[in-house]
Amino acid sequence: MHSIGIDIGGTKIAGALVSDDGRILDEVRQPTPAEDPAAIMDLVVAMIERLRSGNEVIAAGVAAAGFIDADQSTVYYAPNINWRHEPFRDQLRERVDLDVTIDNDANAAGWAEFRFGVAREAHHMTMLTIGTGVGGAVVTGDRLLRGGFGTAGELGHLRIVPEGLPCGCGARGCIEQYGSGRALLRMANEIADAGGIGLGLAAARERAGALTGGVLAELITEHDPGALHALRQLGGWLGQACASLSAVLDPELFVFGGGVAIAGDLLLDPVRESYLAHLPARGYHPEPRFAVAKLNNHAGVVGAADLARIHAATS
Ligand code: BGC
Ligand code: NA
Ligand code: ZN
Repeated sequence: MHSIGIDIGGTKIAGALVSDDGRILDEVRQPTPAEDPAAIMDLVVAMIERLRSGNEVIAAGVAAAGFIDADQSTVYYAPNINWRHEPFRDQLRERVDLDVTIDNDANAAGWAEFRFGVAREAHHMTMLTIGTGVGGAVVTGDRLLRGGFGTAGELGHLRIVPEGLPCGCGARGCIEQYGSGRALLRMANEIADAGGIGLGLAAARERAGALTGGVLAELITEHDPGALHALRQLGGWLGQACASLSAVLDPELFVFGGGVAIAGDLLLDPVRESYLAHLPARGYHPEPRFAVAKLNNHAGVVGAADLARIHAATS
């Protein structure tokens, strides 16, 4: 039977009707009113009603960009959305009369890649999603790691720079501030300001009014030297983070998702290089594989729908 997946990110909300083998049958998308939790709830309710009409649906799963509790009912905190102890699951259940679960957005994406995507053959995988923030998911021994309070896999808040840039989580120096899509734009702007290889970036910024993800994506496909330099900086930070993650999780496979992962090897090459330079026991520790997500920006909805189906079947 079908289930519904909703993915609430810092910038957009995606919803889909998903079959039990992970295929998307219908899809909707809206910008996220990040400052207004009530408006987010209204949008999610409307999406579920629309995706459900005329279909038999067993459950709905919501993937949310924040710290989720162990009961999978409350968002403790979200760095990029105005959720503070938000009792999301119960509020939604009251309005849609359907079995509802919530999950962290990156956990859902990682689960989708493990079940249906690039990590199907892996037993131990770590995923990083590179978007507004940096999300993380850990599958270890074929299970999604949830931790004691539900928030395991918040890999974006791994500290990478002592007393570094302030983060939306309240700490400083998190990889989210050095390895996210937003960080990439900051680096690209700095490179543009410095002239030299940044001239192409500066010209594109002038034309478009500002550097955006779309403008940068285009420059990357054109192999603009400034844009590639920004991507290498980003990859360098992410590679360092992965080296530390190997010390804790030792995955056989690292998967990168989110908008920036579309760059493929242009992102993975600097990640791998930096990873190998910082890996504890380098030269002796086996090399994991690095891959980009296969389900792209559909991973969140597919994973949320699958987790909700599993939850409904086992409760
Ligand atoms: C949040 C995570 C989320 C990630 C990606 C981070 O800022 O802390 O919960 O998974 O962004 O959306
Ligand atoms: Na996570
Ligand atoms: Zn942080």
